[in-house]
Amino acid sequence: MSLTTTPAWITLARLAETARSVHLRDLFAADAERFTRFSLREEGFLLDYSKQRVTTEIMASLHALWQIADGAQWIARMRAGDAINHTEGRAVLHTALRYNGSEPICDAGCNTGHDVMPDVRGVLDKMARFCNDIHQGHWRGATGERIRDVINIGIGGSDLGPKMASRALAAQHMPGITVHYVSNLDAAHLVTVLAKIDPARSLFIIASKTFTTQETMQNAISARVWLAAALGEAAVARHFVAVSTNLPAVAAFGIDPANAFEFWDWVGGRFSLWSAIGLPLALSIGMDNFRQFLAGGAAMDAHFFSAPAECNLPVTLALLDIWNTNFLGAETRALLPYSQSLELLPSYLQQLEMESNGKQVDRDGKTVAYATAPILWGEAGTNGQHAFYQLLHQGGRLVPCEFIALVEPDFTLPGHHTKLLAHCFAQSEALMRGKTLVEATAELATAVSPAPTSDGLKTFAAAVPSASLQLAPYKVFPGNQPSTTLLLPRLNPYTLGQLIALYEHKVFSLGVLWNLDSFDQWGVEYGKQLASRLLPMIEGRTAATGLDSSTAGLVAACHKP
Ligand code: F6P
Repeated sequence: MSLTTTPAWITLARLAETARSVHLRDLFAADAERFTRFSLREEGFLLDYSKQRVTTEIMASLHALWQIADGAQWIARMRAGDAINHTEGRAVLHTALRYNGSEPICDAGCNTGHDVMPDVRGVLDKMARFCNDIHQGHWRGATGERIRDVINIGIGGSDLGPKMASRALAAQHMPGITVHYVSNLDAAHLVTVLAKIDPARSLFIIASKTFTTQETMQNAISARVWLAAALGEAAVARHFVAVSTNLPAVAAFGIDPANAFEFWDWVGGRFSLWSAIGLPLALSIGMDNFRQFLAGGAAMDAHFFSAPAECNLPVTLALLDIWNTNFLGAETRALLPYSQSLELLPSYLQQLEMESNGKQVDRDGKTVAYATAPILWGEAGTNGQHAFYQLLHQGGRLVPCEFIALVEPDFTLPGHHTKLLAHCFAQSEALMRGKTLVEATAELATAVSPAPTSDGLKTFAAAVPSASLQLAPYKVFPGNQPSTTLLLPRLNPYTLGQLIALYEHKVFSLGVLWNLDSFDQWGVEYGKQLASRLLPMIEGRTAATGLDSSTAGLVAACHKP
């Protein structure tokens, strides 16, 4: 049975018709227990989804959809190491990277596959030794200097995760080490970082799952040329290490296999932060903190694997995405962390969510008849308030919002955090309630005449200059904009681990519901293919033939006369 013909889907489509004409402020007015009914306190997090446009009946039908999609069965298959990344024939075992129990975790099923845990622990121990050597100054550069700058060269999953987490955990940074991230093929990225560092005190990590990605390989070659020019070719061994699944390619690049940190094809690039791809993060925050980060991820895994769907955080977030996307018709979702430390979370989640579920063909090879991943975007609050919130409030578009806030701040200055929380909660309240024309008019009237009569709004408004009242329509807020607020007790390696694992499992749950393989990414291949064909034409090595007139015109414009 296809998803859209299931009884649960048909019921949800009917409920959506009614939901469109119901306002959130009325739902709150009708039910004093709404917050209790539609919020979860799990694993130290508070997930408040009472400002989503849902009812008990809608949530029950969404859960029925999860049952029909065999959610529990898919979780079991992931845990058993089945090749659920079926287009690439691979298991999906990133949870093994943070597992701290004693059970084996097998690739492709316990009866046939091998236990991956000894390899996982071996690489973690190697990372721990390396971090210790760098931090204690046992590993030095070719001239005997201590390493002060670490430059991670990688892109996509080999960049976004450690970069986001290093930024998020600034409060835990080790003194004496600065980690930089270079990803873009544009030389402006590498050149500006190289300008800040001393080759004798620098260590490059070349991070690439495949070790073939053009952006990373070009940056790695340029960094190597720069270092060799300063310190000589023999110095390269002391200043370059690698993280990859492709150890032969690492060796071919000239990096000693002893200085390579391995991971495996059952780790997807955008799920690889927990593997040796997290090495720059471990160098930033220390290995003990990195292990705390893994422990937080493991705790969220245990919750996802065992909690009933009704109080399962990742499943609940996934069901809300389904409701907003497939039944209310939202095309985007705004991620709004009220934490400067989480400022890179939106760009990290863009890859996690859109590369995983931005797909049109289901697991059976059929074109899907429903929308998949919404366009994710966002910005740290309060900065976003002074940029795009105008549209959220009065732009007339449905944009579900996801607020993230910390009960305790990670950095303190008197007067900051309470104001930040006030803004966060005020925004979700305003988006939910809105402001009617009557309320806007009354507000204007009060502003002009602070002592209103008891005759009601008409008399009241009559006393106010009409020019002022003409502003009333501009001050109307439709409200009914759905939002979720996720409250973390604090931000530290453990809670960040929980948060990232929560989103990973939400993405997987959505893939289960939409019947997608969330672990492949064929959609990024075509552009790479065409770029290879265009390169010799742009460099003037081959004639620019067989191109459409736009592409031909752009290529021609880059040729010097
Ligand atoms: O964007 C496509 C992609 O394959 C991502 O999935 C991956 O994270 C990124 O490129 C980088 O790949 P690699 O780690 O192999 O260099």
